[in-house]
Amino acid sequence: MKIAIVGTGYVGLVTGACFAEMGTDVSCVDIDEFKVERLRRSELPIYEPGLDEMVSRNVEAGRLHFTTDIRDVVNKVDVLFCAVGTPPEEDGSADLSHVLSVARSVGKYMERYILLVTKSTVPVGTSLHIKAAIAEEQATRKVKIPFDIASNPEFLKEGAAIKDFMSPDRVVVGIESDRAKELMSKLYRPFLLNNFRVLYMDVASAEMTKYAANAMLATRISFMNDIANLCERVGADVNMVRTGMGSDIRIGSRFLYAGCGYGGSCFPKDVKALIKTASDYNYPLRILEAVEAVNEDQKQLLFSKLMEYYGELSGKCIALWGLAFKPETDDIREAPSLTLITKLLEAGCKIKAYDPVAISETAHKLGGAISYADDIYSAVEGADALLVVTEWKVFRMPTWPDVKKQMRHPLILDGRNLYDKKEMEDIGFIYRGIGR
Ligand SMILES: NC(=O)c1ccc[n+]([C@@H]2O[C@H](COP(=O)([O-])OP(=O)(O)OC[C@H]3O[C@@H](n4cnc5c(N)ncnc54)[C@H](O)[C@@H]3O)[C@@H](O)[C@H]2O)c1
Repeated sequence: MKIAIVGTGYVGLVTGACFAEMGTDVSCVDIDEFKVERLRRSELPIYEPGLDEMVSRNVEAGRLHFTTDIRDVVNKVDVLFCAVGTPPEEDGSADLSHVLSVARSVGKYMERYILLVTKSTVPVGTSLHIKAAIAEEQATRKVKIPFDIASNPEFLKEGAAIKDFMSPDRVVVGIESDRAKELMSKLYRPFLLNNFRVLYMDVASAEMTKYAANAMLATRISFMNDIANLCERVGADVNMVRTGMGSDIRIGSRFLYAGCGYGGSCFPKDVKALIKTASDYNYPLRILEAVEAVNEDQKQLLFSKLMEYYGELSGKCIALWGLAFKPETDDIREAPSLTLITKLLEAGCKIKAYDPVAISETAHKLGGAISYADDIYSAVEGADALLVVTEWKVFRMPTWPDVKKQMRHPLILDGRNLYDKKEMEDIGFIYRGIGR
């Protein structure tokens, strides 16, 4: 089968590479010429474990192609996935301009039946606008060519994207016709040979499933952060509370880690977009509004703890371990590190940061506002405090005496609860975690 994926970011590139890996002929389309040029040379614009080998392998095998020209591919494929970005607008709603521009291109150039599948995260009802955009373009051309739309929201996690795509917990597909269902079944069968977990539903439910799933995960994080903050006040340890409550199989242990807030390209924007959709329907989602408010506060928590410790921060040298919004990715969109950096700079601090892969993304965004270290030890040279922001594996077992020797003052604020308080204090650190 021949398919196209429009939008070659985290989702589009992983989707394209994984379908190609299963033998499908995939054309990846992006408007970013520089990105496409690099991809043709198998140079990846993002960091995702295992993806570079998979892309090179499939490019070499002639199954994975890159182009900037959607017109060129529309009539060569049976299915076209839309995986372009849906960034937040000022008011929190999802910006659908890229999605609708893809729909318009399809309507403008299609000469035969096509199934347009939306993989981007879009609010309920977007499929109606997509259909209208295609129909309008066809009307302008005075043609009426049959097409179907489907919704196939993506649940992959950056950092584990290939594994998630190759063996998904489930695939959610919103469809409106048997023909679309047949095409989607054929495409996904290789991924789910042993346990075919494609959940077919109507399009609105599929669109909503994606937001509800992300909203639930964000809720668990904010809930735990709220409990952690209370733990600190009542003298409980949130790690123990988490283990105690998470071993209840009705609750489960995942997404219950307290920390310095969630970030990334999905949770913050999807929570905002769902709140906006709800308010458009005059049904405020009160729980989700609280989830967002708790997270905003949580992203400031390490700064507040530092301020509480020192009282005055001007001229202090602060070491940051971790810039990416989570480990195994170079994505810094909405990362808690950025909120922290802004607050620290406003307070007059000097910042030296280390991250295994996200330094060039951060430097691109922040320029020379902060300095960067080559490893965890040089990051803490002369530091008045070390703030741990991302739970990369490389931060888990450093040689602590070497860290302490480098620091001017042995204060550690552990935003991801990676370390044992007693062990840290025995070495001579002043240690503060979250909710402990
Ligand atoms: N990143 C994730 O972990 C993740 C997970 C699940 C779902 N999603 C959703 O998937 C969608 C894509 O997310 P992403 O993180 O891959 O975005 P991204 O910003 O990394 O990539 C989007 C790509 O689309 C391209 N693009 C924009 N308009 C285009 C057009 N008209 N034609 C062709 N290309 C165009 C951009 O140049 C960019 O390369 C979003 O809706 C997001 O919410 C993301």
